[in-house]
Amino acid sequence: MKKAVYPGSFDPITTGHLEIIKRTARLFDEVIVLVMKNVNKHGMFDYQRRVEMIETACRGLENVTVDLHTGLLTSYMKEYDVSTIIKGLRSSIDFEYEKEMALVNEKLSPGIETVFLISNPEYEMISSSIVRELISYGADLSGFVPSSIQKILREEGLGDE
Ligand code: COA
Repeated sequence: MKKAVYPGSFDPITTGHLEIIKRTARLFDEVIVLVMKNVNKHGMFDYQRRVEMIETACRGLENVTVDLHTGLLTSYMKEYDVSTIIKGLRSSIDFEYEKEMALVNEKLSPGIETVFLISNPEYEMISSSIVRELISYGADLSGFVPSSIQKILREEGLGDE
């Protein structure tokens, strides 16, 4: 059974994240999308909302589950017997940061592998903070978040002018 974890703060999930999740689901038997705390960021959505949005966006992806963990990634992986981390790379800037994180995680838990998927260039400029900024201006979120999420946010009066 090939299992992988795709960690992130997902505040909120974007179309770029969903692309990586779908590709990971084709490569692994089981994928856990793990909502985590990034100590350097202040959130817009609470953790439970982020989980719910990912569950909505991933509906129909049978081998994908969503979980929440506010501790170390390596401690979660040990507890749930997962040894592969998936990360998406949008640019060389992502690479430098992700390389460091991969090395730290390997040091914390030897044997853990980080596998990088190159993001589709279509999603290169998308990030959760760009989405948060668009939301704060009431801008159109088409193409930035999955359509199911855009619909939910619109119902809450977020996202479209
Ligand atoms: N498409 C679109 N956006 C993407 C993307 C993709 N394929 N891949 C990454 N991004 C975005 C993310 O949304 C995030 O956007 P933001 O900065 O605007 O919020 C940004 O790129 C950076 O992504 P990432 O590097 O994955 O950061 P993150 O905040 O989403 O996740 C954690 C970082 C939570 C995984 C990391 O802090 C962590 O592991 N925390 C747990 C504690 C721990 O174990 N730390 C490690 C040892 S100290």
